[in-house]
Parts: sequence; C-alpha cells; structure tokens
Amino acid sequence: MKQIALFFLAASALWSCQSSEEKSESLKEPYRPAIHFSPETGWTNDPNGLVYYAGEYHLFFQHYPDSTVWGPMHWGHAVSTDLVHWEELPIALYPDSLGWIFSGSAVMDLENTSGLGSKENPAMVAIYTYHNSPKEQTGANDFQYQGLAYSLDKGRSWEKYTENPVLPNPGIRDFRDPKVSWFEEFQKWIMILAVQDHVEIYSSTNLTAWQKESEFGKTQGAHGGVWECPDLMAFDLEGQKKYVMLVSVNPGGPNGGSATQYFVGDFDGHAFDPNSNETRWVDYGKDNYAGVTFSNSPDQRKVFIGWLNNWQYANQIPTGQWRGAMTIPRELTLRKDGENFELYNYPVSEFESLQGETSALQAESIREEKILTSTLTPPAEIKLRLGFADETSPLFEIVLSNDLGEKVVLHFDGEQLVLDNTQNGWDDPNHQFAVKSTAPFSIENGTLSLDLVLDRASMEVFADAGKRVLTSQYFPTKPYTQLSIKGNVDLEEGEIKTLK
Ligand code: FRU
Repeated sequence: MKQIALFFLAASALWSCQSSEEKSESLKEPYRPAIHFSPETGWTNDPNGLVYYAGEYHLFFQHYPDSTVWGPMHWGHAVSTDLVHWEELPIALYPDSLGWIFSGSAVMDLENTSGLGSKENPAMVAIYTYHNSPKEQTGANDFQYQGLAYSLDKGRSWEKYTENPVLPNPGIRDFRDPKVSWFEEFQKWIMILAVQDHVEIYSSTNLTAWQKESEFGKTQGAHGGVWECPDLMAFDLEGQKKYVMLVSVNPGGPNGGSATQYFVGDFDGHAFDPNSNETRWVDYGKDNYAGVTFSNSPDQRKVFIGWLNNWQYANQIPTGQWRGAMTIPRELTLRKDGENFELYNYPVSEFESLQGETSALQAESIREEKILTSTLTPPAEIKLRLGFADETSPLFEIVLSNDLGEKVVLHFDGEQLVLDNTQNGWDDPNHQFAVKSTAPFSIENGTLSLDLVLDRASMEVFADAGKRVLTSQYFPTKPYTQLSIKGNVDLEEGEIKTLK
C-alpha cells in the first residue's frame, strides 16, 4: 500500500515537474507578453466580469482552453492585488445545456438585493450571455439570452442560477454582452446590453428580474458593424455628473476592424441623452477591443481593460500555445476641453511599480536622425517631452527597429499621429494587420508628451497623458532593440525605463 502511495507521489511529482517546465517554456515564447495578461494556454478574447472585492481585482475572460482559435466559450479567471501581476486560476464558468458563456460582467451584491448571498458574505454575481449554438444552427433568431451565476467564495467556485435565463431573447439575433452596474443615485441596478445596431438599457432592484427602460444609438455613432460590449458609467466633474457610454463596434473601427467608441451625455436612470453625436474613439490603434471597466473598484476609479487584438486577424496572430492578451489596465478620466468633454485613458498608477532602471536622455534639438538607444530590451517604457519651436512644421518620426530592417514607426504629419507597422515583420493572410493607423491630433502650445509602453509584441502610445491613444501589436522576427528619432523637433526631456 505504502509503495503504491509512493509511486503515485513520485509520478505526480514528475508530472508537476514536467508541466511546470512546459509552463516555463510557454512563458518564454518570443511573443509572450511580459507585462500584459495572457492565458497560459488556449484562446482568449474579451475581458469579462471585471470586479474588485476584498483586496483582489478579478479578470474573467472569454476563453477556449482546448484551442488557440475561437470556439466554445468559457470564462477563464485571473486575480491580481495590484492590477499588474496576475495569477491565473481555474476556469470559472463552463458552457452548459443553455449554451456557451459569452461576454458579460460581474458585480458585488453588497446589500444582498438578490438574496443569493448575505450582507456578511455577499454574492459575486456574474451576468453573461448564453450563446446557444445548436439553436443558432436551426436558423432561429433567439439563440442569445442572459444568464446569471454567483459565487460565495471570492469567485473560486460558481453556481448557475436555477431560473436562467434572467433575460430571455425577444427574437433578435445579436442580443448580448450585459454590463451591469449599481447606480447609487437611482438606487437600482442598470444593465446595458448590445443589440445589433444599438444598445438597450434595463433596470432591476434584485439582479434577477429586469425591465426594459430605453434604447440608444440607432442613429448615433459608428455603424460599420454590429455593436458589442457596452459599458455605462458616471463621472463627477466639479459637482456636475456626466455619463460616459462605451460601445465596441466590429467592423467599423477608424483604422479597420474592431474598435471602441464612446459617447458623453446625461442619464436619468431611464434613458441616455448624448451631448453630441460625433463619433469619438477610446483608442485609434487597431488592437484595443471590447474594453470595459471594473465594478466596485476602490474610490470609484474607472479602471479599464481591453482585449489587445482585432477580429480581422485575431485567429491568425503568430503566437504559440496561447492566443490573445489584455491591454495594460488604464484609468479613464473625463476632462472638459472648452465646451467638449474628452475621455482620457492612461496606465493605472500601479503600473509604475514595474519600473526598473531608468536612463535619462539628453535634451537636444533633433534635425538629423538620432539613435536614442540600440540596446533596448522590451518590456520597456519610453517617456519623451517634445518641443516644436517651429510650430508651422511640427514633424517627427520615432522608429523602433531590429537589425533585419523590421520596424514600427510612429510619426506626426502635422494633422495626425500615424502608427505604421507595415514593416513590422509579420502580416496576416488578408493584409489587414500590417497597416498605418492614424489618429487626428494637434500639438497644443508647442509641446507634446509621449509615453510608449513596449512589450515583446505590442506598443501602447499615450499622447498628452492619454488624450490620444494608439495600441498596436507587432511581430518582429527578432526583437526590436533600437529606438531612434528624427524630424524638426526638440527633445526637451526623455527617459527609457526597463520594466520588471
Ligand atoms: C466581442 C464578442 C462579444 C461576444 C464575444 C464572444 O469580441 O463578439 O460580442 O460576447 O466576443 O466570444
């Protein structure tokens, strides 16, 4: 008996040793993000159920553990105490007889409005879309509906609600991605749901019975494709409440494929009224989709995570045992600019804890090409303050490259920031990846601050503290090690930071 037990002990030690070796191999893959969350193996798309509770940020995510291409969706799960180091936990939600588990949200039912937990041990409640694939194949329209599951042990184990669905389908294809939030000012739960070419707003006092309040968007914003993954949140601006709605659209992004637009307006607990119908984008890069914010986050901070990918090529990117990653968590802030409101997004302050060695760059006027470093090893962060004494031609070009001539170029042409990855080293079969992404931009007061967050296979560009953002992947054959700048520009201040 003892021998058998020893055999199993030895075998399991060997097994866990092999799997941890495999694990560390998988983490060493050349495009494996070092400072972004990616699942150890398998596929991921949207971040789901972002919620904070008892010192932990929970990131659930669309996940297909058995393959690196999209398939029957589960909710994967990871937790972090600081938003920058993530620990992947076992899968939280598995498909069941009602369908695959599509995107949705999670809240803490602190007052036990649902009766599923208690005030002492409140339920973490996930509300998500069931996608019933066999039903879809029959040609029926009502194959997506909203289900609920809850956890009483900090998201470690889950019970599906016995009376699912909590919101049945009224006969509409594309009826999905519920984002639920508690609105203190209206004393009720609000669900915002993506419904083909618009969003619908529902309300509830107990998370299980929902009533429709209104619709928004048929004639507003960008409509190049179907609307997905909305979010609705309140900002306090010097005593004035303003509401921001995020709506992802695919295709129809400003640079092709998937992207997330936003609207600023008023909300009375029933209907959303936008201040303007102009289309605004959270991020002009090609690779930030389906982003939403954490609920129950301390100090009501709006912490946003997006999927660092684009449906145009998401299933083809040349990663290894996993496919898909998340953006750096970013704080959203709403700022008033004259009569307009602008939504800024910028890495959360916790991100600074990753900073290692810093080397300062010398201030100088750049007219010729200047190599800033040729020993760069992403992950790294580059912070630059650029001055334009000659405001009539504020031009510059920043080039990240390797010695094979593969490169990514960020330049300003006087009217727009352009992130050019046409020579990054990889393109997808449909040639939608290696393109120039543009973002309208103007230099204010002759200066520009730029933060570039570089990982092994992505760049996140934050111009003027997150006023304009471009996120893009790249897949060089060899790592990029050189950073240079040229143009008609003064380098006023600069730092290159390694990231731990
Ligand atoms: C957005 C999306 C959602 C859907 C999920 C399925 O990327 O299409 O609308 O719930 O992905 O994985």
